[in-house]
Amino acid sequence: MLYLTGYTFCVSEQVTIKKPFDAHVHLRRGAMLRAITRYTAERFGHAIVMPNTDPPIETLDAAIVYQQEILAAPGIGNFEPLMTLDLTKNVTPAEIERSAVGSEGVKIYGVKYYPWGATTNSQWGYRDILEAKEVLKEMERVGMPLLLHGEVHLDEHDAAVDPYKGEQSFVRDVLPRLLEAYPKLKISLEHVSSGEAADFLEKNGNEGRLVGTVTVHHLLYTREEAETEPMLKVKPLIKNSSDKEKIRALVKKGLPFIFAGTDSAPHPESKKLSPTGAYGIFSAPAAVELYTQIFEELDALDKLENFLSVYGPKFYGLEPSEETITLQKKDWQITEAVTTEDGEKVLPLGNETIHWQVKNN
Ligand code: NCD
Ligand code: ZN
Repeated sequence: MLYLTGYTFCVSEQVTIKKPFDAHVHLRRGAMLRAITRYTAERFGHAIVMPNTDPPIETLDAAIVYQQEILAAPGIGNFEPLMTLDLTKNVTPAEIERSAVGSEGVKIYGVKYYPWGATTNSQWGYRDILEAKEVLKEMERVGMPLLLHGEVHLDEHDAAVDPYKGEQSFVRDVLPRLLEAYPKLKISLEHVSSGEAADFLEKNGNEGRLVGTVTVHHLLYTREEAETEPMLKVKPLIKNSSDKEKIRALVKKGLPFIFAGTDSAPHPESKKLSPTGAYGIFSAPAAVELYTQIFEELDALDKLENFLSVYGPKFYGLEPSEETITLQKKDWQITEAVTTEDGEKVLPLGNETIHWQVKNN
């Protein structure tokens, strides 16, 4: 078996990289959290934990309690959850200042914007991010990153925007205004899903200023596949093959402002398969493996470690993990749902054959 360390081999059967950093994960609370967190903790050294719980995480104190709950979950190992606040109307500039300093050894790494009503638990958000002036000014001042769910879903007349075009509208109409109004604000455009967003980032991205995260599902699937598969129901919606190819081309470039954020977002099977469905894909059990598979397909395994493990922590002012993870080329499949202690089933992404597997040390 070839052992790949310097990435100079053309054929690789095994890859060892620094333990990955998930720049965007939903770990939920309670029974769900206790059932699913281990899948992230096994594969990632750290992760930026999304705050869209019910109720949302709006204060440093709430984030401290939430972090303790995560750290008490089974299978947590050395995993480090990095906490965020939800940009609701209750978040004040004073709380931002306090959060940037931290307390009890916990600080806040970013503030997440969900457009009002756009996705799971987003009913407390601002209609327009530019309304949050004082908070954004304070974030800019203290160097607190703004994490964007970058979609417009209602136009100025309150008419629904085509959900396949919401990200494109955001990138065209909102993001340039934000960048102009807050020239020093650190911004991450989360879960890039369109060719327009990929182009915008390629042109305007910058390590310390504007970065983008990319999920597995937006690199793997197309609208045709997602429309007929409830498992692939997710925000932002999975778009056309031309969008997928643009995002693939973007990650292949190995730019220092583009990195992994799984957006792993579990929902109970009962909700996911209900007629109204639930937006969110639980990808944690196969995400690192699938990113590796995609980078191999792109002939870009030499870029994998930076994308998964280096550029993310750098944006957040952290060192990459000191641990490593080894992946070997070996087919496997996820055949079983994860079951919570309440007997709820959660279906992970990955019931197709996956070609890379994490090797147990
Ligand atoms: C996320 C969730 O379920 O929390 N769902 C999703 O489709 N991505 C929320 C989000 O990140 O939009
Ligand atoms: Zn998310």
